[in-house]
Amino acid sequence: MAEAAESSTLTWRDARRDDRGALKAFVCTSPDRATWIPIRRRRYHPRQWELDAQATVRSMKPPAQNGERIRLAFDGDGLAAVVHVTSASHGDFGLTIPIAALAQRLRHGKSRYGDELMDEALRVAAEMRSRLNESVGVFARVHPKNLASKRMLERAGFSPAGLIHQDPPTTGPDPHHRCVECVESWVADV
Ligand SMILES: CC(C)(COP(=O)(O)OP(=O)(O)OC[C@H]1O[C@@H](n2cnc3c(N)ncnc32)[C@H](O)[C@@H]1OP(=O)(O)O)[C@@H](O)C(=O)NCCC(=O)NCCS
Repeated sequence: MAEAAESSTLTWRDARRDDRGALKAFVCTSPDRATWIPIRRRRYHPRQWELDAQATVRSMKPPAQNGERIRLAFDGDGLAAVVHVTSASHGDFGLTIPIAALAQRLRHGKSRYGDELMDEALRVAAEMRSRLNESVGVFARVHPKNLASKRMLERAGFSPAGLIHQDPPTTGPDPHHRCVECVESWVADV
């Protein structure tokens, strides 16, 4: 059973099956959807990487599998933040944070709820590492233009570890408008 932990303002717990509805409605970017541009005959969002992160959150299907943790934060207005930590990485040695996202309503000015999000991610990573019984790197992947995310990682003690080239997805909703050809890998020790 998921335990609840109090942090300064958000209450964290493991994601459950009955959180799927809240995940499916999660909004972490503004506007919350792409706009159809007739002249270009394509959909456009000013920060497509945030829309991709939102799509990833919306497709999550807790409970987590073995070797991964999905942690959710709640406040008085509902689901506030999502972080996923997994040891099932693709090419990286160690642990990976495939997704970390804050509800758009909490993203303003100097609120920096992202720091609380990374505290939780690193706390969970440290717990998972102690089960692996060795010191490992924890990797995060970030779109090169995702400055909010890179600043958050920097404040949490991560450093850039190179570029990863990925083929664009050929399946899923609107695959041609997802921007994952090239991502940066960032790493911290836990
Ligand atoms: C990554 C993330 C958790 C960092 O949170 P954070 O450290 O608290 O930072 P915020 O996003 O709240 O704010 C960062 C800056 O972006 C600004 N901002 C907030 N919403 C914005 C938006 N929709 N568009 C542009 N800028 C925005 C903030 O005003 C702030 O500006 P400042 O640095 O000049 O003060 C958060 O940006 C987020 O959830 N992004 C969407 C999901 C995502 O991209 N995740 C990473 C990939 S997995």
